Amino acid sequence: MDAVDLSLKLMSEVNLYNHWIFQNIEPYLGENILEIGCGTGYSTYYLLSSFFVFQSCNINQTIYYYGIDLNKERIKQAKDFINTYFEELIFKKKLIVNFIPGNAIKIIPQINEKFDLIFIDAAKFEYPLYLEAVRQKLQNSCIIIADNIFYSNKIFSNNIPIHDYNSVNGIKEFIRLVLDKRYFETIFINVGDGLSLTKYNKSM
Ligand SMILES: C[S@@+](CC[C@H](N)C(=O)[O-])C[C@H]1O[C@@H](n2cnc3c(N)ncnc32)[C@H](O)[C@@H]1O
Repeated sequence: MDAVDLSLKLMSEVNLYNHWIFQNIEPYLGENILEIGCGTGYSTYYLLSSFFVFQSCNINQTIYYYGIDLNKERIKQAKDFINTYFEELIFKKKLIVNFIPGNAIKIIPQINEKFDLIFIDAAKFEYPLYLEAVRQKLQNSCIIIADNIFYSNKIFSNNIPIHDYNSVNGIKEFIRLVLDKRYFETIFINVGDGLSLTKYNKSM
């Protein structure tokens, strides 16, 4: 398989994976969405498509999306991509998008909103800090999805390469926090690099 074939194969796998994620979480989707580490908007596209394309959504609802990324260039690309792709819905004010460059840990406390769905796909070593940052921003029954939760199965290994150490520890700490049954119900899904799906329940 040459390099082009390999990238096409990887692209289609990622495509299926993103499609799977957002089709399967659709029943839980609410109107306020936060994405931590939106990158160039690829996952954003699938996330928003699950409302507007794959599913028969309630079109009377306005979706408010907030995407945060440290990388200014990526966030610009995400903004251009999403504004172009969802132009009509944005024009009709069915979708309000906010792309915010900067560190999610600092930005989240400044957002005056509570979220129904949070998708985490930024720096793995910071996963517990993102959870802490969103703590006061969780709508009851909010769903928190975290990507790469198995981290190429390294979270199950006793021999962690030194350069993965902080990421693996961050993920393990995040898992410990979302297993706190006083606030959360969590399942782990063995798809792609592993996903956790956590439901916040403040009355638990
Ligand atoms: C794996 S990429 C995201 C990919 C994207 N979710 C997708 O599927 O297309 C991780 C992103 O997290 C961003 N990031 C890392 N630490 C961050 C932080 N503290 N705050 C905001 N973004 C962060 C990086 O700039 C990078 O674009």
